[in-house]
Amino acid sequence: MKADMQNDAAPAIEKPRSGEPYLLTPGPLTTAYSVKEKMLRDWGSWDSDFRAMTARLRAELLLLVGKGSEDFDCVPMQGSGTFVVEAMLGSLLPRHSKTLVLINGAYGQRIAKTMDYIGRDHVDIDKGDYLPPRGQEVAEALAADPAITHVVVVHCETSSGILNPIREISEATYAAGRKLLIDSMSAFGAIDVGADDIRYEAIVSSANKCIEGVPGFGFVIARKSELVAAKGNAHSLSLDVHDQWANMESTGQWRFTPPTHVVAAFMEAMRLHTQEGGIAGRGARYVRNRDVLVDGMRELGFETLLRDRWLSPIIVTFFNPADDRFEFSRFYELMKQQGFIIYPGKLTVVDSFRIGCIGQMDHHTMGAVVAAAKSSLDAMGIVSAKPPPAALSEREKLAA
Ligand SMILES: Cc1ncc(COP(=O)(O)O)c(C=O)c1O
Repeated sequence: MKADMQNDAAPAIEKPRSGEPYLLTPGPLTTAYSVKEKMLRDWGSWDSDFRAMTARLRAELLLLVGKGSEDFDCVPMQGSGTFVVEAMLGSLLPRHSKTLVLINGAYGQRIAKTMDYIGRDHVDIDKGDYLPPRGQEVAEALAADPAITHVVVVHCETSSGILNPIREISEATYAAGRKLLIDSMSAFGAIDVGADDIRYEAIVSSANKCIEGVPGFGFVIARKSELVAAKGNAHSLSLDVHDQWANMESTGQWRFTPPTHVVAAFMEAMRLHTQEGGIAGRGARYVRNRDVLVDGMRELGFETLLRDRWLSPIIVTFFNPADDRFEFSRFYELMKQQGFIIYPGKLTVVDSFRIGCIGQMDHHTMGAVVAAAKSSLDAMGIVSAKPPPAALSEREKLAA
């Protein structure tokens, strides 16, 4: 971790007003005051001003996939992230397709569950709580089963914070002549997913992640040829991406009531994202947030679930300390009293908790988070946050 080698170029981050705590959670997250303020105006959903805003929203999001974006289009969908993942799967996977689902945590598992709900055939590679699915494994699975047509992967598996190797997964998928869909919910906007660099058919994310908007809609960025071919695939009217796209193309409108205030807030969030230097600027702030957090927590004795290579700049999982006096619920309350909402762990094997690095916070905030963790440990009478040896031996399972 090289926290002190980065510069201070990014615009200043303001503290949350009215004393609300920082949300160190991967969305909903702490948003800028100006983003919240944009929700004070009402918009007519059929009005030309709102239609123009929708057009701008689609065009600006599309630019984030960089060169090659002319082959893609952006389709916003009402609902949370799960709705948009289900919309992508149900719309872009033909009814008689067969999909290889790559699982290493809760969001991969949710994809498999969604496939069962919507009646799409799938086989899974399940790596457990946090081991990355590798390109070689994908290549072998695809070679073994010629019926597989698609691969689905989670970009940052937010349940552990692991950044999955989507480049090698994409290469293995297309080398075998199959198609890739990506759930980049918690990474899009902070980690580059250039369409001319990493091949995929569609990628999804939502308003309240790295673009730092408020919850209410997600978006599918899909190859236009896939959007055309998706006609008639969907299991659901409201989650039909083809129909939403066709309607937006012909009328400029969302098919059903859009989250108008959320869209208005998102446009401001996009403005701030651009002002910060787009994906590179946003990603650099999050990396610095993570580095200050991880370095400081390690000084207190805490250890990360993941080796540095796999640590995302989105959210970090720490093992609970071995000390018997550590109780997560007490630690949580002590952190909250100091203005920080943290996140429980989601691992099945060892006890852990998570701290998010995304949202309107900078390295100064993360320094304050570490100081709050230290005073919380002091209040619990814990001298070192060192994890139990069993936790560290879990980590040894991870390739360097
Ligand atoms: C990778 C990933 N996929 C899907 C989701 C589901 O999104 P939501 O909770 O907004 O439905 C999340 C939520 O954090 C996520 O991180």
